[in-house]
Amino acid sequence: MKHFPEIGYKHLIGIENLNYEDIRQIFQTAQFFSDNGINGHNKYDYLNGKTIVLGFFESSTRTRCSFELAAKRLGAETLLFQPHGSSIEKGETLIDTLETIDAMGVDMWVVRHSINGSIDEMTKNSACLFINAGEGNNEHPTQALLDAFTLLEKFPTLEGKKICIVGDIAHSRVARSDIFLFQKLGAEVGICAPDIFIPEFLNNSGIHRFTSIDEVVEWADIVNMLRIQKERIHHNNLPDTGEFNTYYGIREKHLVKKPELIVMHPGPVNYGVEIEHDVAHSTQSVIQRQVRNGVAIRMAVLTLLSQKQDSLRKEK
Ligand code: CP
Repeated sequence: MKHFPEIGYKHLIGIENLNYEDIRQIFQTAQFFSDNGINGHNKYDYLNGKTIVLGFFESSTRTRCSFELAAKRLGAETLLFQPHGSSIEKGETLIDTLETIDAMGVDMWVVRHSINGSIDEMTKNSACLFINAGEGNNEHPTQALLDAFTLLEKFPTLEGKKICIVGDIAHSRVARSDIFLFQKLGAEVGICAPDIFIPEFLNNSGIHRFTSIDEVVEWADIVNMLRIQKERIHHNNLPDTGEFNTYYGIREKHLVKKPELIVMHPGPVNYGVEIEHDVAHSTQSVIQRQVRNGVAIRMAVLTLLSQKQDSLRKEK
């Protein structure tokens, strides 16, 4: 069994605190799985004997399914925990839930939660290792890693590449993780959104700012389109979706204007709002490749953290 160099961190909570070497290690490990096969015909034993809890306190398709497949293809057992149908509906708290499941003998948690800081709180109340699978509008580190990995299949480096994130940036954990990661990898990052969707942390950040998709297409090598994340918006001042589409939605004419432009989207997609159906399914779109690479990246992260856990346990 191949042994990968040991990583310097215990949990994967965000990109902000990862260094370049950590990121390179994740990409190299993901490349190993991508080259050797990520589907059910290619089983590995890096996680034999481990139990991974998939704690999805908020809905998901891509992240949940790809973490589950990644864990199973590495030989782990998985336990899916979702609040619907659980004792959370009877008032049990997040930490009581964590302690209850930990007592059953589990090793790692993959957590999606709507509240910023909840995963950090879980790490303080458990001996398990934790992976953030999307938390509030804080971070979604494995999405950013699979986004960058997908671009690195197209380009030898992201150094100097112009990447623009378009749409609802303020409510997006993907945008935050992408901005941290693309900048760490040397890309020039731009944003394009109505004022209501620009987060405070980007004001005066020196990041390129555009006011329409037409301007973005002139400048960018890559666009990452984001949906309006209504589940995290608790007011009624949303832009009209037709108007939003006019200024910020990417359409076929943009692909005709720039045939080398690469179009990304983390999904799920709202066709006719931030992206047209034909653009999402065009040869310039890498959306399905992002989904495929999500499995390789998650296999890499699970393997590296599991190895780290084994070495920490040996030290005790
Ligand atoms: N990109 C992403 O996180 O998608 P899901 O919500 O379907 O997991």
